[in-house]
Amino acid sequence: MKLLMSLSLLMLSIFLFASPLPEAPSGFANKTNGMTDDATHAADQAKFEETEAISDGLGPLYNAQSCRECHQNPVSGGSSQISELRVGHRGPDGKFVNPDIPIARGTEIIKGRTLVNDRAICPNNAFPASEIQERVPDSEKIRTFRVSLNLLGDGFVEAVPDQTFVDLAREQCQKNHKEICGQVLYVPVLEAPGQTAVGRFGWKDQHASLLSFSADAYLNEMGITSRLQPDEVTNLCNTVSEPNDKPGPDGLSDIDHFARFIRATEAPARDAQLAQTTNARHGAELFDKVGCDICHVQTFTTAPAGTRVNGGAYTLAPALGGKQFHPYGDFLLHNVGTGDGIVVAMLEHYGKRMYQTTWKNFSISEFNSTGNKVRTPPLWGVRLHSHLMHDGASVTLLDAILRHHGEAEHVTKKFERLKPSEKDALLEFLRSL
Ligand code: HEC
Ligand code: HEC
Repeated sequence: MKLLMSLSLLMLSIFLFASPLPEAPSGFANKTNGMTDDATHAADQAKFEETEAISDGLGPLYNAQSCRECHQNPVSGGSSQISELRVGHRGPDGKFVNPDIPIARGTEIIKGRTLVNDRAICPNNAFPASEIQERVPDSEKIRTFRVSLNLLGDGFVEAVPDQTFVDLAREQCQKNHKEICGQVLYVPVLEAPGQTAVGRFGWKDQHASLLSFSADAYLNEMGITSRLQPDEVTNLCNTVSEPNDKPGPDGLSDIDHFARFIRATEAPARDAQLAQTTNARHGAELFDKVGCDICHVQTFTTAPAGTRVNGGAYTLAPALGGKQFHPYGDFLLHNVGTGDGIVVAMLEHYGKRMYQTTWKNFSISEFNSTGNKVRTPPLWGVRLHSHLMHDGASVTLLDAILRHHGEAEHVTKKFERLKPSEKDALLEFLRSL
């Protein structure tokens, strides 16, 4: 009996080993990954590309009029060169403090966020005397930029179980003698009040859910309030009632269309020609050999179809469940010596409900420990990014690599010791991603 059981276990493992999970589809053809049909995907994409006006609720403070303005390269949902401004300062105890940004000649102070909006809707014809443009006070000594991120394929990232990241962080730390220890951060899921999940989106892992991120972006990038982010940043020269984003005839609001659009995108595809060269293949081996793959993890697997994620608020469709994909990132927070000192602002990202709800697994001290940490960004599609690293300040791949210190010091040293031809091969591999 025992023998029979171990035999069948052996056969099962051979079977599992021999049949790799299906690959997540990839490409830049504006096609759906199968989660929706192409017509639905095109309609959702049109929402993502829509230019919003003041009558739609745009502003009062904002950065751009459409999601597509910052997420467009090489197709809608990709990244772009556009960066945003974030500031703050340190308090007497050395802890990070959000900025106070005076507007309207100092009669109102914008608080609770680190983002400084680049645009405002007034002064305009209706409010000629309203001066609400945000400008950075000299007292806010911490200043940084954060460059736009790619969204293509993010539906697969959202579908990775929390436990995968928890296990990865633990193994990484054990295997690397505590030199490289990614941090997992439990963040509020806005559509499941009280629930948290492992953050994986944004340079600071500030969200786990694409619906939560869409509501955050709609408010903070475009000034458009929704059921998940119902409060305007300022009510000066605000004319449209809240929430600005109301459900359409199909019951879906814009944020639902944005999230569904992102979830249904195909993953970024590699440069198939470059990927096949001997040089790039050799570079892929060197990437693992020097230890880039400790953080830039090649392959992840999504939870099975039907799994409920995001605090139970979202059920994985068959097209997203049980898929393998290759992001080349661990989505964990690391200190690689590039940190800007900024801690995620609660009010900005999670709204007032942050303070009205008790969140499971939520830890403010965990958040406070992330000031100088940045998420390992996935390198899929990195060949299409002209501005690299969170601040967009590196414009070559080599410069980006050489900026890795802190936890990555050891690996960077190993990279520096490679022969010129080997460095070239590794860079060729990156250019194929
Ligand atoms: C003004 C430029 C701009 C606009 C407009 C904009 N974004 Fe972004 N987006 C960014 C930047 C910058 C980041 C990185 C933010 C950070 O982590 O600080 C980002 C990150 C994201 C992410 C996280 C991606 C990841 O893989 O980590 C999502 C999702 C997202 N945006 C969705 C949207 C949606 C939906 C809209 C429209 C409602 C939108 N964005 C509008 C600039 C923009
Ligand atoms: C300790 C974890 C870690 C290791 C090891 C590591 N990286 Fe990174 N990598 C990061 C983090 C974190 C960032 C983001 C830093 C920032 O934005 O300030 C990053 C950013 C990058 C970027 C920029 C990506 C973008 O979209 O802007 C490239 C390229 C990159 N790494 C390549 C490499 C290569 C090549 C190696 C090996 C020589 C390597 N990394 C080793 C964690 C790591």
